Amino acid sequence: MSDSHSAPETPELQALHARLAEYSLGGHWQTREQNPDLVPHLWPWSVIYSCLMESGEVVKLGGVEDAANRRTVQLVNPALTQRKATSRTLQMSIQLVKPGERAECHRHTAAALRFVVEGDGTGYTNVEGEEMLMEPGDLVLTPNWTWHDHFNPGEKNIVWLDVLDAHLTRHLDAGFHESYGEGPAQPIVKRDGYCKQQYGAIRPRMAHSSNAALPYTYKWRDSL
Ligand SMILES: [Fe+2]
Repeated sequence: MSDSHSAPETPELQALHARLAEYSLGGHWQTREQNPDLVPHLWPWSVIYSCLMESGEVVKLGGVEDAANRRTVQLVNPALTQRKATSRTLQMSIQLVKPGERAECHRHTAAALRFVVEGDGTGYTNVEGEEMLMEPGDLVLTPNWTWHDHFNPGEKNIVWLDVLDAHLTRHLDAGFHESYGEGPAQPIVKRDGYCKQQYGAIRPRMAHSSNAALPYTYKWRDSL
């Protein structure tokens, strides 16, 4: 809703509007462009999946030369095609990493969560040195500005849902991205589940953590 109202456009008012516009000014009474209304939309999984598999044939992954640094099929709200956004704040995508492939290490101000759809459990997301194994149904968190890369050493594809608050950070002019400068992957220095065990609800008495969000992983098998 707009809090402005339309005043009758008298010649004097038109002249004022022209003058305001000339100097990059605006009158509070003038109408302004509204955000487009979002529309409900259903993305059939069969279509997403076939497009994703096709991308696996025609889009190289690796971040060097003509290879993409991520291979995802993005869910785009029909009202936000210009921004390629799922909602005003979120970007949801489905990502594919084929056997032997690596999605190189980087970090960004957008935070990410991932729900694993397919995988044989050998692939992982490395967040700040923690090897977070990705089994179907698992939830893996990548807090904002944490280094992360993905690797699939197995024999089956890994497919997962990515959700990033990328459009919120962009709207706030706070969208920053940095590539890891020391190769395609960071070293693994923590076992799977390390942060959850060290800094979770039941933690060692002397464990100390800052206020920074932690890269937790929630295993599907623990919920059964
Ligand atoms: Fe990322």
